[in-house]
Amino acid sequence: MDEVRDPFGTVMRGARMPVVIADAKVIDQPIIFANDAFLALTGYRRDEVIGRNCRFLQGPLTDPEQVARLRQAIGAGEEISVELLNYRKDGSTFWNRLYVSPVADEAGGIIYFFGSQSDVSDKKTAELSLIRSSEGLRTDIDTRTRELERALEQKTTLLHEVDHRVKNNLQLISSLLLLQSRRTEDERTRLALRSMLERVSAVATVHRRLFQSDDLERFDVAEFLRDLTSDLAASAGRDDIRIRLDLEHVAVPAAQAAPLALVANELICNALKHAFPAGREGRIDVTTRQVEDRFLMTIADDGVGRATGRPAGFGTTIVQLLSQQLRGRLEITDTQPGVKVVVTVPVSTPA
Ligand SMILES: Cc1cc2nc3c(=O)[nH]c(=O)nc-3n(C[C@H](O)[C@H](O)[C@H](O)COP(=O)(O)O)c2cc1C
Ligand SMILES: Nc1ncnc2c1ncn2[C@@H]1O[C@H](COP(=O)(O)OP(=O)(O)O)[C@@H](O)[C@H]1O
Ligand SMILES: [Mg+2]
Repeated sequence: MDEVRDPFGTVMRGARMPVVIADAKVIDQPIIFANDAFLALTGYRRDEVIGRNCRFLQGPLTDPEQVARLRQAIGAGEEISVELLNYRKDGSTFWNRLYVSPVADEAGGIIYFFGSQSDVSDKKTAELSLIRSSEGLRTDIDTRTRELERALEQKTTLLHEVDHRVKNNLQLISSLLLLQSRRTEDERTRLALRSMLERVSAVATVHRRLFQSDDLERFDVAEFLRDLTSDLAASAGRDDIRIRLDLEHVAVPAAQAAPLALVANELICNALKHAFPAGREGRIDVTTRQVEDRFLMTIADDGVGRATGRPAGFGTTIVQLLSQQLRGRLEITDTQPGVKVVVTVPVSTPA
């Protein structure tokens, strides 16, 4: 047929896109037409493909699932597009984006299948290597996560070990102070030793609280003050002093915990020991608040008040030194009755 009488054939034969036509009326759809581009793509001669079903392009690594999709669509007379691995005559492979569609005659019966192939190996290879590298990345991340989990476990174990030793050592110091205070005849020395014992206990309580909490970096002052006041009230043995707690949860950096605890200890001890001489009942209010980036702790009593002219004791020195260390402010007011002390400390957020 010449080009004028068969323009479609001419176009198909010369098209840059590989094209085949299979006979739908003959069993197993043999190829009745293949253009030069198809031959160039697959490496076969025309006489090697005409009369055969196109499955000769498939090989051991062709995905059977995609072949099944083709079989199903062709059997149902539907068009389909798949991507599958095909083999050239020389055995080399390429990724084939295949489009197959039925062609019907005027009566509606399917007479041909039209197929067109395109080599999408570059795209497919890039896709596959992307999948592989993301899988590799995921394995790397999994490995790294496991390593970090192990490191964290080790760190936690170590912290607990250290915690245990510190607790034992604090206990040892407390025992020494207790023994010494029991053996001391001099009343003033005995009281001083008792005060030291209370300070060590306060630090021990901080320590226990810090390591009991999930967060080793933050210290909840409210929880601590609850423990401390009940310990101090118990050892003071004064049922006639009512202690009221109004504690807002304030988490401070762990580094601020011990100094804050010691300050609280001094102030609550003072109220318990000095504000209510035997026979005088009263109350002590302990309040915590967070105001913006500052932490406020108030300890107020309605006792006898600070006698003017009395020299500040060691407790006051401790409170002043530690407030300074915390870059905090100390405000002591004679409330008549009683004394009110407000400690304001900037709460730095740990990085
Ligand atoms: C027109 C036409 C073109 C086709 N072209 C290809 C092709 O390029 N590569 C391929 O692997 N299969 C191709 N096939 C699909 C196979 O010929 C066959 O239909 C498929 O393997 C499913 O049938 P089977 O499970 O009996 O093999 C084509 C099918 C038709 C009808
Ligand atoms: N809340 C208070 N109520 C009455 N007096 C207080 C109060 N706090 C402190 N004082 C008085 O201030 C003195 C100094 O206190 P402090 O420096 O803590 O030393 P210490 O408690 O060892 O005596 C106390 O001895 C006490 O007389
Ligand atoms: Mg004191």
